[in-house]
Amino acid sequence: MSTRYQEVLDQIAAEPKRWLVTGCAGFIGSNLLETLLRHGQQVVGLDNFATGHQYNLDEVQKTVGPEKWDKFTFIKGDIRDPAACEQAVQNVDYVLHQAALGSVPRSLNDPVTTNDVNITGFLNMIVAARDAGIKSFVYAASSSTYGDHEALPKVEEHIGRPLSPYAVTKFVDELYADVFARAYGFGSIGLRYFNVFGKRQDPNGAYAAVIPKWVSAMIHGQEVFVNGDGLTSRDFCFVENAVQANILAALAQPEGVNQVYNVAFNARTTLNELFRHLADALGKNGIVYDKQPVYRDFRAGDVRHSQADIGKAQRLLGYKPLFDIVQGIEVAMPWYTQFLR
Ligand SMILES: NC(=O)c1ccc[n+]([C@@H]2O[C@H](COP(=O)([O-])OP(=O)(O)OC[C@H]3O[C@@H](n4cnc5c(N)ncnc54)[C@H](O)[C@@H]3O)[C@@H](O)[C@H]2O)c1
Repeated sequence: MSTRYQEVLDQIAAEPKRWLVTGCAGFIGSNLLETLLRHGQQVVGLDNFATGHQYNLDEVQKTVGPEKWDKFTFIKGDIRDPAACEQAVQNVDYVLHQAALGSVPRSLNDPVTTNDVNITGFLNMIVAARDAGIKSFVYAASSSTYGDHEALPKVEEHIGRPLSPYAVTKFVDELYADVFARAYGFGSIGLRYFNVFGKRQDPNGAYAAVIPKWVSAMIHGQEVFVNGDGLTSRDFCFVENAVQANILAALAQPEGVNQVYNVAFNARTTLNELFRHLADALGKNGIVYDKQPVYRDFRAGDVRHSQADIGKAQRLLGYKPLFDIVQGIEVAMPWYTQFLR
């Protein structure tokens, strides 16, 4: 384990803090919740179940056990409601703001709702956090902010034009965070996640991410659809790496604050390679998938290639991703095979 991460985990275990995780019933939020509770932290969660699920919270409860679960307070509320945000930040030390409407296609279909949740909701949260004097505000930004900038690997300073309403919203959040630092002296850290995957990522619905969607199709013996020629590539990031980045960011040294960071592994995997990794891992878990993928049109708003330079997070946060894509799939596969059946 990275020395800095272990140091921070030891520090919070010795002196437990109170954390707010927005979007705690969702994929990344529920993984954050689980890790924080495991390490003896007090956690407040805020979620309106727009895309998250009660069963994600139930699973965390079962995993951490009753004693640790007692340190969790859930608020069912909407980040578009300033009063819910104000209530959620009361007596909190650190905020990990994850609540948003993800998905590029969803934002293309409904840009107004995506804007309301991802920009107005973000603004409500950062205002509430500022007014409550929160020590540290960490928020989920996105690799979609790189837009049509083609250079690889992506470095934080060089972004292109957004390719979707979703990308606009995540970039506007960064602009607000920056202005809040300069105008009000309120510090924050944005984490530009690159294709995060792992347990509790929703496989269902029109806006599901590629890994849970494919694994679910494979488990059920259905066809796997590839958008484009299969050579589109991504820097897939196992959720434990994203959890590490959040906890490191919350306890960042002053020089690391008021920054955005790439959160990824720094590798590039094509969709064709991903298909093979998933089929191989399923095979090791006793499920043989012998169909070939079905290729169809490229999807609007998708970037062709993506790979992160993670040097900045390594230098300023001590981030050291512990799982590459194959290791992440290996860890997640028993969960997929149990819960996606
Ligand atoms: N998963 C990825 O690969 C990825 C990549 C880049 C950025 N992100 C960002 O990370 C964050 C978490 O994403 P995720 O993959 O866990 O998605 P998710 O949909 O599983 O989780 C989002 C959670 O936010 C909640 N939420 C949505 N609207 C809300 C509202 N108005 N009020 C309160 N709660 C609300 C949902 O119910 C859900 O539980 C999001 O901000 C997303 O944009 C994710």
